[in-house]
Amino acid sequence: MIVGVPMETVAGERRVALVPDLVAMLKKAGLDVVVQTGAGTAAGFLDAAYEEKGARISASVLPEADIVVKVQPPSLDEVGLLREDAVLIALLQPYSQFDALSALAARRVTSFAMELMPRITRAQPMDALSAMSTVAGYKAVLLAASRLPKFFPLLMTAAGTLTPAKVFILGAGVAGLQAIGTARRLGAVVEAFDTRPAVKEQVESLGARFVELPLDTKNAEGKGGYAKEQTDEFLRKQQELLTKSVAAADVVITTALVPGKKAPTLITAAMVQAMRPGSVIVDLAAEQGGNCELTQPGQETVQHGVTIVGFTNLPSTLAFHASSMLARTFVNFLLIMVKDGKLNLNLDDDVIRGPLATHQGQIVHDAIKTAMAAASRAP
Ligand code: NAI
Repeated sequence: MIVGVPMETVAGERRVALVPDLVAMLKKAGLDVVVQTGAGTAAGFLDAAYEEKGARISASVLPEADIVVKVQPPSLDEVGLLREDAVLIALLQPYSQFDALSALAARRVTSFAMELMPRITRAQPMDALSAMSTVAGYKAVLLAASRLPKFFPLLMTAAGTLTPAKVFILGAGVAGLQAIGTARRLGAVVEAFDTRPAVKEQVESLGARFVELPLDTKNAEGKGGYAKEQTDEFLRKQQELLTKSVAAADVVITTALVPGKKAPTLITAAMVQAMRPGSVIVDLAAEQGGNCELTQPGQETVQHGVTIVGFTNLPSTLAFHASSMLARTFVNFLLIMVKDGKLNLNLDDDVIRGPLATHQGQIVHDAIKTAMAAASRAP
């Protein structure tokens, strides 16, 4: 069986779905690897490096691959090039890329949306979402530090004593915790808040202060450790209570997400206005609508003197390590489905069934079907 690694075609995407060091793992499992010419170049992996590890380089891989590993969802043209019985492992953006998913089903491709991997201990080595959140959380802090007209650390110099930057992290999941660690390493004073009270201890263990808000968060955690969607009333109260901490911060990094839903609005325009000029907001939820009312997805803007960074796809900016991590999760997943060089799709296994998006001509994942039905009802 052939594992194909295509060149990514989405504008600005620098990652690649397989790195040379992992080719041997696939070969050992009895699989052949074909990489499209130049697929890894933007991430720093040259064709020769793949060849050295035993992969073949080809101008086109989709028509001949039995299994395709890919970073971004395929375009409709790419779906058309896939073999009818192919298996696709990718970040399929299952809550928004409905056309691609419908096309994959129509083409009878068995596709796995790696974002839907269950958050259970056994699946941790296949948790692509956590891997990419780690990259985004780290990069968010570096972006903020490079925009802020202040030092992050406390400096005592002959030219005066400079106080450390105050960083406030909203949402302390995987990205938020990575952001806390990175900001602390740069010497900032860090505070954080999350609706899931369980994260308080993790925040404190990284040397940040957990901001306590008088909100009822007893039922804030849903299935799999994810946050539940909150009511408008709750969010209004949360905004009000956050106003002081946001205004006191030099940098606010927002990472609050609820799977399958629009990101909650945590920072209103009025709250931005109350911040000091020169302050920075990095909104990691930009792709899901943003945690800040003034975020423009994909853009960096200055509003009321505050720099608001709404870049999407931060993992692509750290393409070397993001590709290495992503590829590792893909390979770990693929290898649990391969026995003696053959694919064994055991759909009774939660880890295989969990991210299964399309199979035998149908969209089979309940969460995707629910999201598609809601989108078709939306005005
Ligand atoms: P995420 O990316 O969906 O959300 C980020 C954070 O935003 C979450 O911590 C969430 O509680 C928070 N949030 C949502 N609404 C908010 C609001 N209104 N105000 C403030 N914060 C809000 O979540 P992520 O980072 O992918 O994972 C969340 C949790 O999942 C982890 O902390 C962990 O407990 C669990 N997890 C478990 C794994 C496992 O294999 N056992 C692996 C990875 C994560």
